[in-house]
Amino acid sequence: MTPSSGEARGDEVTGPVVRPRRLRTTPALRRMVAETSLEARQLVLPLFVREGLEEPRPISSMPGVVQHSRSSLRAAVAEAAELGLGGVMLFGIPEAKDAEGSGALDPDGILNVAIGDAVAEVGDAVTVMSDLCLDEFTDHGHCGVLTPDGRVDNDATLAVYAEMARVQAAAGVHMVGPSGMMDGQVAVIRAALDTSGYQDVSILAYSAKYASAFYGPFREAVDSSLQGDRRTYQQDSANAVEGVREALLDIDQGADIVMVKPALAYLDVLRRVRDAVSVPVAAYNISGEYSMVEAAAARGWIDREAAILETLGSIRRAGADVILTYWAAEAARLLRG
Ligand code: PBG
Repeated sequence: MTPSSGEARGDEVTGPVVRPRRLRTTPALRRMVAETSLEARQLVLPLFVREGLEEPRPISSMPGVVQHSRSSLRAAVAEAAELGLGGVMLFGIPEAKDAEGSGALDPDGILNVAIGDAVAEVGDAVTVMSDLCLDEFTDHGHCGVLTPDGRVDNDATLAVYAEMARVQAAAGVHMVGPSGMMDGQVAVIRAALDTSGYQDVSILAYSAKYASAFYGPFREAVDSSLQGDRRTYQQDSANAVEGVREALLDIDQGADIVMVKPALAYLDVLRRVRDAVSVPVAAYNISGEYSMVEAAAARGWIDREAAILETLGSIRRAGADVILTYWAAEAARLLRG
């Protein structure tokens, strides 16, 4: 018997020789050998801003999250900078929606003015990102424009995304987040930015984005009344290899960061993507993941703060360099101690 097998070697040693518990003895030891860490700079706070609001409005499906007014958004962005967050991801909710999502292209539309507000507030101190997708702006709630028979028209949507990218860049955004899962969207957006003088605006591609039940609470957050589902463009949750394929395609098209979304039900995809690419990888800890924890904590079933840190830690451990999370500001405060 070898000593490492844990059997006694002499008259007095009877227990195991190898004891992993030794490194768990004190908080200082545990801290020293921790394999992953969570830092404010890795967190991105998604923020909703709604046209025409005087005061922030609570989102009942996401306790603690609000639709911001323009002025409360500025305050939230300033706080994000003060906390040292990596970034903010802005979503705009227009007062009026139409079939083409035309509010997305209006330089005076809510998302574009909010980008300007955010950049005016913090400059380069925090990375200002914007959702580049049509679902917040369309009355049918799909991420693109529709064909006469009601299908999402990939290539017609690409033309709108290209223009949306230019308008967001003109408003001052640092990084755009195409989240519509149209084929070729990253290439078209990169070309639109580059030919308009925005070579330095980067692209966070929602690359492996799955059709998920966990987006449910987000629908209320953006006042969306989706007709049908998104299964003809978002990925089937059965597929992991395809998630890697989508990430590689987006990198070929010029994505600076690739994202896996949702996070928790797709941690395996996150790990595969992290191992397959050489750009930073982000994960979106989405609305349903947030609300599940909040709901259980509100009933006293779990320790809320510990669950938040464990959740974010699991996403880091699975391979995320950057995490989009509604808990970003709170987690940053918890990490400060
Ligand atoms: C699309 C978009 C969605 C989310 C972020 N961007 C909705 C969807 O694709 O159905 C969901 C985020 C969340 O659930 O927290 N613009």
